[in-house]
Amino acid sequence: MYVDIGNALDGDLGLAREDLDALDGRVADAHERIARGRADSEHGYAALNLPETCDPDAIRTAAAGFDPDHLLTVGIGGSALGAATLTDALGGDLDCRYLDNVDPVWVASILAGVDLSSTVVNVVSRSGTTAETLSNFLVVREAMEAAGVDWTERTVVTTGASGNLRAMADQHDLPALDVPDGVPGRFSALSTVGLFAAELAGADLDALLAGAAAEADRLAGSLYESPAYAYGATTYALAERGAVTNAVMPYAESLERFAEWFAQLWAESLGKDEHGQTPARALGATDQHSQLQLYRAGPADKLVTLVRPREADDVAIPETDLEGLSYLGGSSLGELLDAEFRATEASLAAAGRENVRVELDRVDEHGLGELLYGMEAATVLYGELAGVSTFTQPAVEWGKNAARGLLGGGDFPEADAVSEKRRLE
Ligand code: PA5
Repeated sequence: MYVDIGNALDGDLGLAREDLDALDGRVADAHERIARGRADSEHGYAALNLPETCDPDAIRTAAAGFDPDHLLTVGIGGSALGAATLTDALGGDLDCRYLDNVDPVWVASILAGVDLSSTVVNVVSRSGTTAETLSNFLVVREAMEAAGVDWTERTVVTTGASGNLRAMADQHDLPALDVPDGVPGRFSALSTVGLFAAELAGADLDALLAGAAAEADRLAGSLYESPAYAYGATTYALAERGAVTNAVMPYAESLERFAEWFAQLWAESLGKDEHGQTPARALGATDQHSQLQLYRAGPADKLVTLVRPREADDVAIPETDLEGLSYLGGSSLGELLDAEFRATEASLAAAGRENVRVELDRVDEHGLGELLYGMEAATVLYGELAGVSTFTQPAVEWGKNAARGLLGGGDFPEADAVSEKRRLE
């Protein structure tokens, strides 16, 4: 992963090179703390060891023997977005769908659109108790039974050591992959959680993990030596100066889901104790025709993160004799996209609006391994600098408990708080 922070300096928010130099001592301390956490496999920090600890053979074994037309991954949040990011980015022939939401109309339409006899279901929940995931799975299971499909032959469970899902896997003797200890959902893309879908879709898991390992090797005690820390430290410094929004804008359709994955990672990890930065999702070049207006001319309270591959397949633009369009002929869509990217970057900089460039070589397994690992490490560094508890999600848990309580799934004070909510009618 390559990170260029030049356009984050000397803009409207006033971040100067000297400020980053001053911050670099704290980056060194944070790096030591992260290294200790990794060495002791502490909760959360263990995720940064996945390039070494993840066993791709266990995932390959679980996927062997299946040759489906469709993959239905049933999971939510960190139990879906990593896999979705990988399979969306890498493409391939397998039709991969993600049942995360419990919107009944949408769930019914997905089930109606797949041949369940040629579908593999991967139900993923670290806790094994998440209401959305278990409910969706029960619906899928019933739909398979109704279609005369033996769901036990077509289901792979990915879960933690205990919980309802583990009990179900044991009861029905289903193939089960373990969610590794110490790896929170949003940091689990490079584990069994994200990699089963990638394997079934034909991805090279070794290359993915090698990319992540290469980025891990670049972590060092200075933001000037580590692209991931350069990103984490710069975003933190800008947030401290008022960049309340981080708009992530990939210039590749295949990375659109990456922006969604990033948004979860950034918001759920760092949104604590009045810290955090609101992630916004944009797509280049499409959103140059919408959101860019705000980013260049709205309030000076944002950072724009521009993400792109350095190389991609290209399509030539045919010659035309239409007057005024001859400049396009002989060019290519890739060259046009590159021009759009550089124009956006320059236009933001010219207006004093901070932006950071993040690049990968290609959207392939190695590049994605680098990108996902690098952004996870950046998040951990930011969390250390802000002094927040990066690996917990109490607000998310509050909502889960409230929903369970409202459905009669136990005695949760959060549910009582919902009933007592003030109303103005
Ligand atoms: O990052 C997180 O911890 C969350 O987004 C979880 O991944 C999400 O709530 C799903 O949890 P579980 O895997 O326990 O079903």
